[in-house]
Amino acid sequence: MCWLFDLDPDLLPLFQYNCKQFASPQECLSAPEFLDHIRKVMLVIDAAVNQLENLPCLEEYLYNLGKKHQAVGVKVESFSTVGESLLYMLENCLGTAFCPDVREAWTKLYDAVVKAMRHGWDT
Ligand code: HEM
Repeated sequence: MCWLFDLDPDLLPLFQYNCKQFASPQECLSAPEFLDHIRKVMLVIDAAVNQLENLPCLEEYLYNLGKKHQAVGVKVESFSTVGESLLYMLENCLGTAFCPDVREAWTKLYDAVVKAMRHGWDT
């Protein structure tokens, strides 16, 4: 996630807590609320991994999560940037174990999560 703002600096103003905007990516990256958001993202990914055989059971939750993100001004395309950031992090952590099959599996999982969240923009 730390490379998120390198990939898209326009995401920084979307992370506001108590109506306060961060002056720099560094300030945001050290804020407990932002670190909590990273944990929240990873909890959603974890839930999707655990429900891999039954992803439809997360659909309603992900739809509502999409709606919440739409309400705070997130564009659905920005989820691709988060996806890139996630793959970059996995590649760095897993090293050679991050083979093409593993990359494909994570890409599919993340795409399925985003597909369900993007319904929040449809209505
Ligand atoms: C909540 C921004 C991507 C999961 C939030 C909030 C903001 C936000 C401003 C409300 C404050 C907070 O709880 O920190 C963004 C931006 C994203 C992004 C700018 C980049 C595109 C994601 C992704 C996921 C996610 C990809 C999961 C796959 C969550 C969760 C919450 C949340 C679980 C808490 C919702 C609740 O309180 O019910 N996000 N988010 N976010 N976000 Fe994100």
